[in-house]
Amino acid sequence: MLSSRKVLLVVSGGIAAYKAAYVARSLSLLGADVRVVMTRSATEFVGAQTFAGLTGNPVTTELFTGGPDVPHVELARGAELVVVAPATANLIAKMANGISDDIASATLLTVRCPILVAPAMHTEMWENAATQRNIETLRARGIELVGPTSGALSSGDEGPGRMSEPDDIVAGAVEVLRRSQELVGVSVLVTAGGTHEPIDPVRFIGNRSSGRMGVTIASEAAARGAKVTLVAGSLSVPVSSGIEVVEGPTADEMRAAVIARAPDADVVIKAAAVADFKPGDPATTKLKKSAGAPEIRLVPTPDILKELGTDPSLRKTGSVLVGFAAETESDPAGLGTYAERKRADKGADIIVANDVSSADSGFGVDTVRAVIATAAGVRDLGLVSKRDLARELIDEVIRRRSTPDV
Ligand code: C5P
Repeated sequence: MLSSRKVLLVVSGGIAAYKAAYVARSLSLLGADVRVVMTRSATEFVGAQTFAGLTGNPVTTELFTGGPDVPHVELARGAELVVVAPATANLIAKMANGISDDIASATLLTVRCPILVAPAMHTEMWENAATQRNIETLRARGIELVGPTSGALSSGDEGPGRMSEPDDIVAGAVEVLRRSQELVGVSVLVTAGGTHEPIDPVRFIGNRSSGRMGVTIASEAAARGAKVTLVAGSLSVPVSSGIEVVEGPTADEMRAAVIARAPDADVVIKAAAVADFKPGDPATTKLKKSAGAPEIRLVPTPDILKELGTDPSLRKTGSVLVGFAAETESDPAGLGTYAERKRADKGADIIVANDVSSADSGFGVDTVRAVIATAAGVRDLGLVSKRDLARELIDEVIRRRSTPDV
């Protein structure tokens, strides 16, 4: 089932470390090539020899070998999936903050493949605001979580924080590996961020888009195995490694970048907040205050989505076109009406309409109230994280690719 898939199991120091032996064994029995990395505290709970015996591979417990090899880089580059079980509060905090002071954290900072984390800690540590914030950070980065569950903890305590059972962790690993293959060989073009339309060489008309939605979609598509190109307007969030970034700072430059690449793209997702109007004749030198308030004449920008949706010669045959509709509307029925209208008007296969009017939904925040309109109808997602929305959208794109009439 997992024949020769390369899985890296990172074991940190908690009593649940003994259950990681079952995870290692099950993954090996499924055919995976399992390598194990242990923190020093993990070795207080289980011996490295146990994992070596179960996986048939050497176990790494040290960052420095005294030789020329760099184990964290070699292990990270070879992996197709990393499972962290148990993941202590300490290791989760290091992952969230990019600390790399031992073999486990250094390897985790180096990997580019999907990561599945199985937290295990006492209830107080799990519920601590610091841990919860770290977990949110990992989730927002696309790291998958399994558990924790609620139940018996060490010292006779009981409550949330117990590591998921090995079978559930293995099932999660199999699922993440399956998903990581869904878009292999598929090229996805995503636009993100707001455009800046020059008034003069130092001033522009822009909008509040952070680019978070498009960047999250790009990272989700890459996690499914796609080759992703991101055409970026103004971004205030970092782009995951492994994604090609092309600059498209103004509507015209974004259009040129998109039109040049769309014929080779299997999927085009236009999440950018493109300005609808730009100054008609931007000044070539800085406007002087002494000259008085300027009159700025606005002219329309090209509607890139509509152009792609209405001229089939600009796109690869059978490609999927997705657009967004940013609305100041929180009612799902209203959002649905806008989405369907925009789908027809722009010639897109899928439109995501989202509410950008409230403090918990829209530009710059991590959650959004959204609906997805396809030929099959409108689906209300409610208030979701941008990561979950990206996941739902990519699922929808995959469905559309397998059944083009839906
Ligand atoms: O027409 P409206 O701006 O509401 O449409 C939003 C959708 O159209 C988004 O997907 C956005 O990326 C795209 N768009 C575009 N070119 C424009 C304006 C919007 O591609 N000039």
